Amino acid sequence: MERIGIGLAGLGTVGAGVYKHLIQNRVLISERVGLELAVRRIAVRNPDMVRTVHPPREIVTGRWEELIEDPAINILVELMGGIDTPYQFMMRALDAGKAVVTGNKALLAERGFEIFEKAADKGVPIFFEAAVAGGIPIIKSIREGFIGNHIESIHAILNGTSNYILSRMTEESMDFPEALREAQEQGYAEADPTLDVNGWDAAHKAIILASLAYGFWVGTSQIHVAGIDPITASDIRFADRLGYRIKLVATIRTNRDSLVEAHVHPTLVPKQHVLASVNGVFNALMVRGDIVGDTLFYGRGAGQDPTTSSVISDLAQAAIWYDSGGKAFGFTPHGLYGKCLPIERVSSGYYLRLSVVDEPGVLAQVASILGSHQIGISSVIQPEGHEGDAVPLVLIIHDAPFGKMWTAVQRIQSLACVKASPMLLWVLS
Ligand code: NDP
Ligand code: HSE
Repeated sequence: MERIGIGLAGLGTVGAGVYKHLIQNRVLISERVGLELAVRRIAVRNPDMVRTVHPPREIVTGRWEELIEDPAINILVELMGGIDTPYQFMMRALDAGKAVVTGNKALLAERGFEIFEKAADKGVPIFFEAAVAGGIPIIKSIREGFIGNHIESIHAILNGTSNYILSRMTEESMDFPEALREAQEQGYAEADPTLDVNGWDAAHKAIILASLAYGFWVGTSQIHVAGIDPITASDIRFADRLGYRIKLVATIRTNRDSLVEAHVHPTLVPKQHVLASVNGVFNALMVRGDIVGDTLFYGRGAGQDPTTSSVISDLAQAAIWYDSGGKAFGFTPHGLYGKCLPIERVSSGYYLRLSVVDEPGVLAQVASILGSHQIGISSVIQPEGHEGDAVPLVLIIHDAPFGKMWTAVQRIQSLACVKASPMLLWVLS
């Protein structure tokens, strides 16, 4: 059986899983692929570190360049994380005519356009199933499974860490730091969890999905992003009373004018909606195509083994491409869409939590501002409990363009009866 040489850059959470499972499932993989996938060389920062996997010391190097230069290596796997080094690594690999497999959503979201241009120029494919939703084969599904469909919408939970944190805060009444610590111990959070909690990890994944679905590269400036960090235990409790769970939801869809909406933020999801019951580190995606209708994907979106499953699937495809050629679908630009809808024009319902003085006429002042922007209130609760000399006031708002709602909230914030920054969250529509 022909041997395909693999160079593995990174032997951390995911890299170690890939190494381990390529060995454990070697026979099954080679029987199915018809080729043997052999790891020839591994690049790490510290070659002498004691690890959970034990490759022969002579194949481990501190110089990633050696992987690209090695003629026995046909496919490169980038699992280092970060932007600058992986960017150099991928560009040099493509120049050398070697296919690349990566799980690096940050790199693809930030510099995907240049990377895919280079790949097209060199006729060399990039595989990135692990970059979105861990073990769920969503990239292959959108790119190949739904190739005949106009994608009408994608609603998705794409960050395992923030979903884990929100689930623990909901189910165990845990506070934010404790839930985050648990997520890090489980290996779900990135080494620096900032991007997990500020929404940008999910946004990177949403950028990749939107770009694949609509055939133009959606820039980081075209997506509206907010994280879970300001969500309080009170918001979770109030949302529960109103019949909702709070989730970090990515929305990607087109309108009648083929303008593309892309936004990621904490969202109130009705408890009976399928995304409301996606808990822990699980991710889920609801994809609607004009031919296929509604589809649902669910699985672990982070962690060693699920992510490894996607990397190995890409390795198999890359090996087959190397061995027998053929078209490998990466990112295929086309001109059917091409523009994003400015976030100010995107419409939604909202949850608005205010901290107000406890006296008559407050609700009337708030309602008057909303009314002056033609924004309607669908329900109001005034939960018990004081916050200093203020009390909470929670409103659910009818559908309105985000720009109008934002302007109204700025005016409400400046009322003398409003004592703290309002909390504005979207309601799933
Ligand atoms: P880790 O931080 O656990 O591992 C990174 C690995 O890369 C380490 O082995 C490190 O070496 C090595 N490395 C870093 N910089 C260099 C360098 N300059 N030269 C050579 N080696 C280097 O990361 P993860 O495994 O968690 O993530 C890897 C990638 O996969 C990231 O892009 C991440 O976003 C993505 N991903 C991660 C998921 C997860 O659940 N963890 C899920 C989906 C995608 P050393 O060990 O010596 O420090
Ligand atoms: N930190 C990411 C998450 C890993 O929590 O979803 C998977 O990309």
